[in-house]
Amino acid sequence: MIRIKIIGVLFIALALKSYAQETKTPTPQWRPVYHFSPPTNWTNDPNGLIVLNGEFQLYYQHNPFENKWGHMSWGHATSTDLINWKNLPVAIPEVMSKDTTTWIYSGSVVEDKNNTSGFGTNGKPPLVAIFTADQPKQKKESQFIAYSLDNGLTYKQYAANPVIDLNKRDFRDPNVFWHEPTKQWIMTVAMVDEHMVRIYGSKNLKEWTKLSDFGPSGYTRNGWECPSLLPITVDNDPQKTKWVLFVSCGGDHGPLMQYYVGDFDGTTFKNDNSDDKVLTVDYGDAFYAAIAWRDAPANKKLLIGWLQNGKQETYPWKGQMSIPHDLTLKTTEEGVRLFQDPPAMLSKGLSKVTKGSVLSKKNIDVDNKAITLSKKGAFDSNSIWIEAEFLINDSKKVGFNVVANNDQSKKVVVGYDAEKQQLFIDCSSSERENKQAVNLVQTAPMKAVNGVVKMKVLVDKSSLEVFGNDGEKVISTMIYPDKDATGVSVFAEGKATLKDLRIRELK
Ligand code: FRU
Repeated sequence: MIRIKIIGVLFIALALKSYAQETKTPTPQWRPVYHFSPPTNWTNDPNGLIVLNGEFQLYYQHNPFENKWGHMSWGHATSTDLINWKNLPVAIPEVMSKDTTTWIYSGSVVEDKNNTSGFGTNGKPPLVAIFTADQPKQKKESQFIAYSLDNGLTYKQYAANPVIDLNKRDFRDPNVFWHEPTKQWIMTVAMVDEHMVRIYGSKNLKEWTKLSDFGPSGYTRNGWECPSLLPITVDNDPQKTKWVLFVSCGGDHGPLMQYYVGDFDGTTFKNDNSDDKVLTVDYGDAFYAAIAWRDAPANKKLLIGWLQNGKQETYPWKGQMSIPHDLTLKTTEEGVRLFQDPPAMLSKGLSKVTKGSVLSKKNIDVDNKAITLSKKGAFDSNSIWIEAEFLINDSKKVGFNVVANNDQSKKVVVGYDAEKQQLFIDCSSSERENKQAVNLVQTAPMKAVNGVVKMKVLVDKSSLEVFGNDGEKVISTMIYPDKDATGVSVFAEGKATLKDLRIRELK
């Protein structure tokens, strides 16, 4: 039984990561403008997110040699605005020795300010990376650490690795943070096949003590990966904090990522909801393996995920990150729920790439006939950012057609279905070859507020992210429009008013 399960999990993981044939045909039409993608070769999960001297560090699962998954190493990029990225040399390469290969799987980085690990020298605190060492030959995963004394450019492996070894095949993705009330480092790490998150504590990042297990709970059909636990403010009240546990759970029949809201006392995470409650992070088929910068300015927690690729190949890179999500918690009718909106601080970075058109309009009546917003030279680059507020009136659907070709036979429809009370992305006219049938239409339950629905629609060449009602619901997906499919229009089925519209084009 267990073997079958393990093979099942591996099969799903591999299926996600090696979907299609490799191509060598360049695909500049799908290279994102305002999302991170590596200059060349493969990426999947974000890793080691930390802010150092005002600079966001992004490490990423990377194959430095090929445009497909393998030779896992940590690529490295930095940014001051989360839009414009500088790519740097590989920070942690795979380790090869005579009898084994060690792949550097997902993990995190902490700044060890008090030098608890003793890796620091001359009063300079070290950065410590905590990650999974995957040893394919041994069929084993254990937790390793490595440290950097050059601001995260290069890391040295700790001589006494592994720091946690349960002799397991699937045990991965440690995420570590400092817990001030109990004065210790806390790690969450996935017991993949058990659908559990194991919580460890440590005083020095080298010796770890098991504190508790969380799970199985929520969605458990597939293996669990990339857990992380974050304190998040509730209802904008700094006095009110809840802990949110994120788990990537690879759902082919459920969410790709789920979250739990509860409390953490330094030992145990206590879920506020019952174990049968499933809370979805993102309702699309792409947002996966997300972790957060915990220490962003203004105490923001910014979640960023890998946008899984679908079947289509891109070249000379494959894989990209999502736009960061600014995380907050709000008390709703259903309980305390996660809200995720693009961070306000992105505007600085976006203005640097706003070289195209900008349009702001109010009170546009939309009445069954779509109104074209793009024209030659304006909003026709498939790299646009739309913010809209619709007064729905009695219309059945409102929204935007994006990446449309001339005769509108191919397009992606993003909108709100007032009858079904759903935010949706409908790719059925253009993505049949790239997506599984169940993912052609992706939806999230959402209600209009006093007849008004808000949406942010982010199109960036091959990614599409829609945020509904100020981050109440998110749907992220990958799209692969034809080169000439760049049209944008606004539509309504019935009469609606587009109260507020802002589009900018990013180049
Ligand atoms: C998630 C994941 C992680 C693992 C990494 C390997 O996408 O499977 O569990 O550490 O990717 O690349």
